[in-house]
Amino acid sequence: MARILITSALPYINGIKHLGNLVGSMLPADVYARFRRQTGDEVLYICATDEHGTPAELAALAIGQSVQAYCDEQHEVQKRAGDQFGLSFDHFGRTSRDENYILTQHFAAKLQENGFVEKRTEKQVFSIADDRFLPDRYVEGTCPICAYEKARGDQCDNCGRLLDPTDLKDPYSSVSGSKDIELRDTTHLYLLQEKLQAPVETWVEDHADVWPALTLSIARKWLKEGLRDRAITRDLKWGVPLGDAFGPEMANKVFYVWFDAPIGYIAATKEKYDEWESWWREDKGAEDVSYVQFMGKDNVAFHTVSFPCTIFGSEEPWKKVDTLKSLNWLTWYGGKFSTSEKRGIFMDQALEILPADYWRWYLMANAPESDDTSFTLEGFAQTVNKDLADVLGNFVNRVTRFCKSKFGEEVPDGGEVGPVEEKLFAELDTRIASYTENLHAMEFRKACADLRAIWAAGNEYMQEAAPWTAFKEDPAKAAIGVRVGLNLIKLFGVLSHPIVPFTSEKLLAIFGTTDTSWPTGPAAEILTSLPAGTSFTPPDVLFKKIEDSQVEEWKETFGAP
Ligand code: MF3
Ligand code: ZN
Repeated sequence: MARILITSALPYINGIKHLGNLVGSMLPADVYARFRRQTGDEVLYICATDEHGTPAELAALAIGQSVQAYCDEQHEVQKRAGDQFGLSFDHFGRTSRDENYILTQHFAAKLQENGFVEKRTEKQVFSIADDRFLPDRYVEGTCPICAYEKARGDQCDNCGRLLDPTDLKDPYSSVSGSKDIELRDTTHLYLLQEKLQAPVETWVEDHADVWPALTLSIARKWLKEGLRDRAITRDLKWGVPLGDAFGPEMANKVFYVWFDAPIGYIAATKEKYDEWESWWREDKGAEDVSYVQFMGKDNVAFHTVSFPCTIFGSEEPWKKVDTLKSLNWLTWYGGKFSTSEKRGIFMDQALEILPADYWRWYLMANAPESDDTSFTLEGFAQTVNKDLADVLGNFVNRVTRFCKSKFGEEVPDGGEVGPVEEKLFAELDTRIASYTENLHAMEFRKACADLRAIWAAGNEYMQEAAPWTAFKEDPAKAAIGVRVGLNLIKLFGVLSHPIVPFTSEKLLAIFGTTDTSWPTGPAAEILTSLPAGTSFTPPDVLFKKIEDSQVEEWKETFGAP
């Protein structure tokens, strides 16, 4: 039994997540966690809301709530959506809790003690009307290159040029629109990443054989450019306070959100488990833990370089990531899903239209692994109708109804395994092995293709065994066909669990079981394991087909292009 620690990138608190966020980290992490639990491993799957930073402050301000109240509410919203999507977190924590304050301050103190932190004074834009320092991207003005009037202080969206806020002509605060802004001196803690380049680089190269190409290429790109020292504090009120460890002039500042957020993985574990160190400290039992992280590609540099700098700089034996699965973008009809512009479909809206498994199946079968993938409602409907309704749903319906009408509600006796069954067993042996391997490797699209082929093999078998035709002349032949068919349903229930857990539950409930233990041994054994006489309950229709008219309606609702 292996010990597997799994984390998915912590979703920002401001706003419920869209389908692109979901498939980028939480959903694949859930699939993997479920699979590893089924194979008997000890799994700890941790996630949390990432609650600090300017966007959260501004979102609260915009609706006249305190940041604390806003975060309390949004945390519950995200937690509920996660539950409804079947995300099987062992704990869903919050970076704004005490555990994270304490650990973040601990890491900062260690970095200071070890000489990896330094104070530096710099000039920053201060908005008098807003009474706050403005992060670069909240300063807007006219681009010095292309004269675009809404260029941001970090980059011009029109010509793409990287900018400094001081480059802008006629700058103003994008928070209030006020032009009453000035440069003020402010002092921040800098993490001396240049000094930490060597250990991080060695550690990354140690993983060159095991990390996926996308992960490795991003990490290497950053290391090649050379790590730069970076500010890890901000002049904000909401965040982890520095406390008095860094001098009185620093006491009213907070840590930068990207400094405290990854520490949140550890802190969220600590929120719930007294024995949290046995997962996170190599000197306290975590040396045999295998740690897998899931995230979108924009997060990779933070996890392969920045956060490791924090850990190496602490000079303490914290558990570091072993395998990092990174995903590309899911696009909304080729464009960007966007939280700020409310473009795309969000988790709560998705569930108002259809149950979680419809989305889970489509998203995982089309996971943006090797490339960005375009979400379209047309493609979604087609996949659902074909794979879930026609192949899986229809199979289950046909077998259970037929059995009920001819043999009653129990697994029929009689008949013998013949060449048609042998052929099915042989195919399933290969497919199940491949499916298992692909799930282990976190190759989700391939895994879904295997699962689809497994369902289809069931259908083909039924087509050939044709118990409905055999029944009149050869009831024994019909009985074996139905018996294998019922066994297939139970097997599908087990194998489908990681991807479509609600459906899996229904399939297993047909036989009154909840046992999802991963199958071992040959298909010939598995598919004869339900003894004759086992009673079962035919399920209601598993999947409803999506009509063209619904697609049209949703395209309208969600503003599809
Ligand atoms: N909130 C970040 C995002 O959505 C991810 C934070 S991951 C963590 O991009 F490790 F920093 F927590
Ligand atoms: Zn420009």
